[in-house]
Amino acid sequence: MTGPGTEPGPVPETLRDAIYAVRTARLRLERRRLDYGRETRERAARLANVLPASVDELRAYEREYDDLAWFHESYADRVAEIHEAGVAADTTHWRDGVTLYVVCRALDVDTVVETGVLFGSFDAHVLAAMEQNGGGTLHAVDLPGGPPGPFEYGHLIPDRCRDRWRLHRGDAREVLPALLERVGSLELFLHDSDHRLPHMRFEYETARSNLEPGGVLASHDVRLSRLFDRFTDANGLRSCVVCDTGIARRPRH
Ligand SMILES: C[S@@+](CC[C@H](N)C(=O)[O-])C[C@H]1O[C@@H](n2cnc3c(N)ncnc32)[C@H](O)[C@@H]1O
Repeated sequence: MTGPGTEPGPVPETLRDAIYAVRTARLRLERRRLDYGRETRERAARLANVLPASVDELRAYEREYDDLAWFHESYADRVAEIHEAGVAADTTHWRDGVTLYVVCRALDVDTVVETGVLFGSFDAHVLAAMEQNGGGTLHAVDLPGGPPGPFEYGHLIPDRCRDRWRLHRGDAREVLPALLERVGSLELFLHDSDHRLPHMRFEYETARSNLEPGGVLASHDVRLSRLFDRFTDANGLRSCVVCDTGIARRPRH
């Protein structure tokens, strides 16, 4: 019990889960009201406030993505396989994938670390951008096990990008610190694993110290809470949100 002069104790797991469930329900409602057409139309303008690229350059990357026939053929086939298997797919929407595609092209990323793979929608988009960049490695972390149905983690990743992908199995709390230490400074960290606040905060904080100057912290489902905005404000990162993904950049100097 918390009384005068006493510190509040840690929030019990069950209460945390209840808070997370309420936030998730609220987010579902908010998503129904969100104008995703507008979010997508404004993507380039919002990203231009954060990234070292002009609106025109960012729009050119969006058009390039639209024309990536080899990617869309493979991606559509694999989405169809998941639907045919009838498994619940909590996969990130491709429109958030496009945002990451554009970010990875604009930064010409070489090293990216990501948490939360599942079917690998984000992974596929980051790796497609690396293919277009002509280099790069994506280190991806997910729990032991795999997605539902007869699938492996990263099922959506096209074959031609797979040699750039390294999967690290384990809880991000255990895997991430050592992985980041091994990988060194990062151009992009992407969070899409456990969205309960203590875990998100842990990943943001762990990744921040490894971001190189000008590097980007990206996070899915930032509309769940004010955490992303508060974190980026407190750490002097310039940020924007497009659809359900937050993009924040460490200053160059
Ligand atoms: C929403 S899904 C990720 C969707 C994925 N980013 C995509 O693009 O399709 C969340 C994933 O995070 C993983 N996850 C949850 N808690 C985790 C943790 N503590 N460490 C690592 N991965 C975790 C889950 O196993 C699940 O595959």
